[in-house]
Amino acid sequence: MSILTFSSPEAGAAEAARRLSALLDAGELKVLGVATGSSPGPMYGELASRGHPCLSRLTVFALDEYIGLPSGHAESYRSVVTREVAIPFGLDLARVHVPGEGPPEAYELAIGACGGIDLQVLGIGSNGHIGFNEPGSPFDSRTRRVTLAKSTRVANARFFNSPDQVPMHAVTQGIGTILDARRILVLAFGSSKASAVAAALEGPITPDLPASALRTHNDVTWVLDAAAAASLSANTLENIQEASS
Ligand code: GLP
Repeated sequence: MSILTFSSPEAGAAEAARRLSALLDAGELKVLGVATGSSPGPMYGELASRGHPCLSRLTVFALDEYIGLPSGHAESYRSVVTREVAIPFGLDLARVHVPGEGPPEAYELAIGACGGIDLQVLGIGSNGHIGFNEPGSPFDSRTRRVTLAKSTRVANARFFNSPDQVPMHAVTQGIGTILDARRILVLAFGSSKASAVAAALEGPITPDLPASALRTHNDVTWVLDAAAAASLSANTLENIQEASS
């Protein structure tokens, strides 16, 4: 595991894009798992502006999706992935997969048929969720329908006109699905993520804090800004911090 801290989210996004670009260069990134939410957007933009020749040949699997939004809703993750990833990367939409558009088992099979996810991009919820795996989600969970925590619906209300419009349910890759990715990149920016980041990296490894499961994976990179890293102990930063800028 490595932890990278940056003075700003923009600097973190630039370094994350540089790393993904290096994996494209090496031929080690053909299937990309994409999170939505606010954290990864600037990295996708930076990657698109680098214009790597392999970018448009990626196969993409979204991490999660709301259930119950009208088709084409601007805040459905299908719409977000189309807007922030597929169009900027120049992807053929046939290679952009979003859970919930068929049975959950079919999503797992589709990931397997593409050879598995080379790199999964994640954000982290302020309650420690990854994808829409809320506290209590088993570490061996697979893609499935879930009920959103009230705190998640409140946090995501900023994307909707009113909190009532945030769906109650979603479909998400499970924690077990996420842990099957060959590499994982977690992006967390801002003070609202500080306690979840510290709990994930320093607290007990427990389903009560889903992101703590990432400590059981052998290739995870955390990209943090100073505010998101603020609650980490000096010991953590000295021992596992790889670089800063
Ligand atoms: C949301 C999404 C996740 C996202 C996380 C953090 O609820 N389901 O996919 O990674 O929470 O979101 P943000 O990056 O907007 O803080």
